[in-house]
Amino acid sequence: MKDIENLSKEHFNKQAAIYDETDTMYYSKMPKVSCRHTAEYLRDFKYESLLDVGCGTGYLLELLIGQKPADYHGLDLSDEMLRVAGEKNIPNSTFVLGTADKLPYEDGSFDVVTCIQSFHHYPYPDNAMKEALRVLKPDGIYLLSDTGMGGIGGWIENHLILPRLKSGDCRVEGMNGIAKMMIRNGFQVIDTKKLTGLVYTVIGKKSGKRG
Ligand SMILES: C[S@@+](CC[C@H](N)C(=O)[O-])C[C@H]1O[C@@H](n2cnc3c(N)ncnc32)[C@H](O)[C@@H]1O
Repeated sequence: MKDIENLSKEHFNKQAAIYDETDTMYYSKMPKVSCRHTAEYLRDFKYESLLDVGCGTGYLLELLIGQKPADYHGLDLSDEMLRVAGEKNIPNSTFVLGTADKLPYEDGSFDVVTCIQSFHHYPYPDNAMKEALRVLKPDGIYLLSDTGMGGIGGWIENHLILPRLKSGDCRVEGMNGIAKMMIRNGFQVIDTKKLTGLVYTVIGKKSGKRG
């Protein structure tokens, strides 16, 4: 499974310099749809700290800092995507190299964890969700936005298309599959939304009272 992470890293290290401006389906078009919806959702949610897992070039954090001051963190496995993010000098933002299934943060560090168009690259998706839950504060929320259809279309993609790609795409899930996975990993699902035919967001909450 380390091979998948290496493929993702190589792929995004190559894409980094052109990722933001190459606004096609295979570059940043769908992530931008997801990021804009996430920013819209968070406009009225009170938070002081947010972690974006698989933050890429920091597009979401740029949107968020424009609408709300908070302590922003981004983590990604591609050093080149992070270099582009760092060059943007986004205020109150710290970027860290790492993988989604081993987050280098203390338990209960964040009010919000986001994961935008990155989850389908994860070789250990359940571990990534457990880590998101761990680093969230009680009552914190996890916004996961990704692309996938589920059903027979998803089966074809996962079994016949993705294995032929060299971009570290591991497994796509539909919206309902992600919602079930969140519940299995300890979240309460509080919202789901289809953003386009294929792009969706699922929002989970970590239950419990803040200390
Ligand atoms: C399609 S890009 C999306 C980037 C960004 N979230 C956005 O909305 O523009 C997917 C990102 O996930 C990162 N990624 C892939 N596998 C990862 C993993 N196991 N842990 C952390 N980041 C990962 C890639 O390096 C890449 O930056």
